[in-house]
Amino acid sequence: MSSSTTSLTPDQHKAQAAQKAVEYIQDGQILGLGTGSTVHHFLTALGTRVQDGLRIRGVPTSQATATYATQLGIPLLGHDEPWDIDVAVDGADQVDPQLNLIKGGGGALLREKIVARAAKQFIVIVDEAKQRPHLGLPFPLPVEILSFGWATTQRHLEKMGWPAPRREQTGSPFLTDNGHYIVDLHIPQIADPASFEATLLLLPGVVECGLFVHMTSLVITGTDQGVRLSQAPDKPTP
Ligand code: A5P
Repeated sequence: MSSSTTSLTPDQHKAQAAQKAVEYIQDGQILGLGTGSTVHHFLTALGTRVQDGLRIRGVPTSQATATYATQLGIPLLGHDEPWDIDVAVDGADQVDPQLNLIKGGGGALLREKIVARAAKQFIVIVDEAKQRPHLGLPFPLPVEILSFGWATTQRHLEKMGWPAPRREQTGSPFLTDNGHYIVDLHIPQIADPASFEATLLLLPGVVECGLFVHMTSLVITGTDQGVRLSQAPDKPTP
């Protein structure tokens, strides 16, 4: 007798979470559109609903998302319009038990945070591996910094006690959509994400960091047993 267990890949978990998130989207809404491979699944599913007649408009958090959404026929709002975002949907690199996040693995953290903060509800879609007992290594914390004086800013960050290498891409500095650099702070455990975020943002040259504290309304996690929903107790229910 043989027993068979099916385990899904992380990408299938991402697709599951993305499919579930699309169920929360309602006609007429303004949506924040995150960035990354999980959001790619979300956009694909959303595009199908738009082609079937769903009327929504999106605010993209990166050039990559804007390009893919446009290919799918998802109408987008411009950068300069005032946004009244109903729901933002985005991935994450880590989620802690309080639903705080590390984001920015794809380098879009600044626009992602602006859009998530502008949204009435923030839905986070992840595969199971993103759930962690605390934020920090093995995923380093992305910090977006100005290129002006970047080595000095990096030195200030490293004086806090952890390496903060500048992110590189094919031998050159990685540049965000905003023309900034990213350093990845190798901090083992972020005991108090809110106060650490505040400390980082006080440093001149730091534009934003990848800590998303007390912003999440709902986390949808793809697992082998189906999707798991984690609702923030003090946020509006999607
Ligand atoms: C983009 O800058 C990030 O914040 C992504 O949302 C995050 O890295 C999750 O990406 P994946 O969905 O590709 O895992």
